Amino acid sequence: MGDSSIQVDKLTPHVGAEIHGIDLSRPLDQRTFEQIHDALVDNGVIFFRSQHLTPEQQKDFGRRFGELHVHPAAPALLEGHPEILVVHADETSRHVAGENWHSDVSCDPEPPMGSILYMHELPPVGGDTLFASMYAAYDALSEPMKRFLEPLTAMHEGEHVYRGRYGVDDRGRVFPKAEHPVIRTHPVSGRKALFVNGGFTTRIVQLERPESDALLQFLFRHVETPEFQCRFRWQVNSIAFWDNRCVQHHAMWDYYPQRRHGHRVTIRGDKPFYRP
Ligand code: SIN
Repeated sequence: MGDSSIQVDKLTPHVGAEIHGIDLSRPLDQRTFEQIHDALVDNGVIFFRSQHLTPEQQKDFGRRFGELHVHPAAPALLEGHPEILVVHADETSRHVAGENWHSDVSCDPEPPMGSILYMHELPPVGGDTLFASMYAAYDALSEPMKRFLEPLTAMHEGEHVYRGRYGVDDRGRVFPKAEHPVIRTHPVSGRKALFVNGGFTTRIVQLERPESDALLQFLFRHVETPEFQCRFRWQVNSIAFWDNRCVQHHAMWDYYPQRRHGHRVTIRGDKPFYRP
């Protein structure tokens, strides 16, 4: 299948597409790589069904898009694969990965460009993942609000998210924090996207605390607008590949105490910027 054309079926006008006609366990020729890359840039998140990848093959697929990222806090649970984040929930879980709207590790000075999640085990029902287009979120703002937000920057912090989260001794550990533009320009599409999220963003630097709190509350609610979203219903061996620069996601934990298990490979990104 390596050199045939892939089929891209959009899920919604704003975000998400399912890709057919590709076996990701095989090396990608340049044309197929470019088609997948373009589908990701055009749709923000792409989905594949019935894939059969070893951890090494999942990492090889990720490496076609850039260097792999190692999570700054989660313990490496898969021996020999520090770049694989194990996403797991069962009856003993007190948290699950990504259970509120966020963009992965946005507290990093150079947050991940993309994440590739491969699901191995699912509950009988539930455990969907929701994705929201941050282009759509930006585009829906009024012109005065866009002009107000464009010069602003915000702090993104890992401390309140990661401290004590993984049941390991993290005394003395310092978790990343970074200042990023509130509106970022996507380095490939050139489009503007809202870049604050309820997981990591703690304050808007140029505002007083009450002003910042009120504005962030409004923006976090705005991100959740149903029209900006698609919702992915997983099957065993499905893959979701999302672009953290223009999409947020939310893992729906509606299946406790059932099990859900998968592997995430994350691709390093660059420093967010705003270009008028
Ligand atoms: C994540 O935030 O990477 C987890 C997403 C999911 O489990 O659906």
